[in-house]
Amino acid sequence: MVLKDFLVEGRVAIVTGGGRGLGHAIALCLAEAGADVAVAARTREQIEDTAAEVRKLGRRALAVPTDVTQADDVDGLVQRTLDEFGHVDILVNNAGIAPVRPLVPMLGSQPKPAAGAWDFSRPTSEEEFDLVMDTNVRSVFLACRAVGPHMMGRSKGKVINVASMGGLRGWDYHTLYTASKAAVINFSRSLAREWARYDINVNVIAPGRFPTEATKGQMADEHIRRDLLRRIPLKRFGEPREVGLLAVYLASPASDYVTGQTFGLDGGAMVLP
Ligand SMILES: NC(=O)c1ccc[n+]([C@@H]2O[C@H](COP(=O)([O-])OP(=O)(O)OC[C@H]3O[C@@H](n4cnc5c(N)ncnc54)[C@H](OP(=O)(O)O)[C@@H]3O)[C@@H](O)[C@H]2O)c1
Repeated sequence: MVLKDFLVEGRVAIVTGGGRGLGHAIALCLAEAGADVAVAARTREQIEDTAAEVRKLGRRALAVPTDVTQADDVDGLVQRTLDEFGHVDILVNNAGIAPVRPLVPMLGSQPKPAAGAWDFSRPTSEEEFDLVMDTNVRSVFLACRAVGPHMMGRSKGKVINVASMGGLRGWDYHTLYTASKAAVINFSRSLAREWARYDINVNVIAPGRFPTEATKGQMADEHIRRDLLRRIPLKRFGEPREVGLLAVYLASPASDYVTGQTFGLDGGAMVLP
């Protein structure tokens, strides 16, 4: 028997970036725990597939094509969810990108780009800076702004922002990414204070290394893969479902007394120097 405090039955969740990877796993775990789910991202087939899997679990689902960098899209996502399901209890801001590149080309020996990495031979552009900040930070601001009045009105809500272990420490060739995730962590801490009086919990999941579309280039490179594993005390990469399980805890009544926290989910990597 499952402790009822860990269930989210009758609750409605929005999961951004729910078409694949960690967001897909989060959407399915929330559905398994009882939630109806609105799945958002730009690739329609992927969000429709996730929505179909949610329905197979016996929950209601909505696939809403959304570019999380665009205010109109994000406002529309929240409104569609309200129109369809009547309320929003859980917001998971998971959509994100993780480009790997040196800030400017390195003098002397160049790092070898893994498959899918951005061009290492020229300086990072302002457009790339904006793309990372818009996708990883602006998106969180827009979605919280869109659900805030509704959650405040009900004096109830769970906001879960997916940052990264990289938001808590430095990583080579990840300046923009780690800066964006650090911003998400501190945005969440401040919002947790601001919204605590409405019983809205705001917490952060900081994943370590998980095999997804975003990381497959790095993980396919045997040298990088071995190096990454060497830095994980539990000696394996995480399973996307493990992020989903933590999201269920943070979405459920079991975490009602937890807010403003960042949960590392990294096989112990953060305890290494
Ligand atoms: N995998 C890891 O090891 C790891 C580690 C730490 C943190 N994270 C974080 O976890 C989150 C999910 O990562 P992942 O590994 O699952 O990546 P992924 O497999 O590439 O999935 C990213 C998701 O975000 C969506 N997305 C990206 N840009 C978007 C936009 N402008 N508008 C709407 N949706 C957008 C993508 O859909 P579309 O492209 O179809 O829009 C996709 O559904 C990210 O925030 C990432 O930084 C991942």
